[in-house]
Amino acid sequence: RMVMKKSKTIGVLVPDVTNPFFNTLIRGIERELYKAGFMTLLCNADLEEEKERTYLNELTRRGVDGFIIANSAISDQEINEHLRKKEKPFIIIDQKKEEGFSDAVVTDDFVGGQLAGMHLYELGHQEIAIVIPQNAPSNIQQRLFGLYSIFESNHIKVIHAPLTKAGGEEAVLSILTSKATAIFAANDELAFGIYAGLAACGKKIPEDYSVIGYDNVEMCTYVTPQLTTIAQPITKIGQLSAQLLIKRIDEPTKKWEEILLPVELIKRTSTAPLK
Ligand code: RIB
Repeated sequence: RMVMKKSKTIGVLVPDVTNPFFNTLIRGIERELYKAGFMTLLCNADLEEEKERTYLNELTRRGVDGFIIANSAISDQEINEHLRKKEKPFIIIDQKKEEGFSDAVVTDDFVGGQLAGMHLYELGHQEIAIVIPQNAPSNIQQRLFGLYSIFESNHIKVIHAPLTKAGGEEAVLSILTSKATAIFAANDELAFGIYAGLAACGKKIPEDYSVIGYDNVEMCTYVTPQLTTIAQPITKIGQLSAQLLIKRIDEPTKKWEEILLPVELIKRTSTAPLK
């Protein structure tokens, strides 16, 4: 008989703690884990593969009972090989998982991209700039595919920038030299950077450019104009992933579960009809 010693600790890996999406997510996770008597061990991987591997190894060595891995830089395949070998339960969130490897909580990123595109289309925009990271993780690529389902590719200008405010500012130069009248930022952080970049060039939102973000972080209602965005149920993603992992720890051989959560268009004042 195998006796499993429990450390009552869960390793949580996120790519960027400065992004409020992950603040909110972590809080959702931590509250659930706390309720169930687990400690949260938080690791910020900075989207660096090496750092992420080091953390996975180190957390394993410290005997955590399981992992919650958000938007990882290393492949699901590698995580699977690493953690399955060590018989550690894990759950991957915020990324499309490979089939049959782990439990997962995902949102409908394709529909999110589609909703954003449809909103801009209904406002009369025909030329769209989308700002996404180079080698975007699969969930973010789905947002782009969603946009492609509404607009022909020759009406979409794809601009690459990291998912940060600085990334948004950098993207503005390419936006200004494109035909775009509306901008779809792959997350709200990028959108806030785009606000600053456009303002620095004397451009107004929504008069000169409509801007739509993604995530619906709290800050959206504290910027002027308030940011139209696609809302993800961020706290819920965190809570459900913690619950799913705890269930898996209690019942290691149960069937893999994938929870798909809906997204929603939140119309505010950063988007307006094309003049
Ligand atoms: O802001 C972080 C973004 O990266 C979110 O959209 C989340 O889904 C992640 O992929």
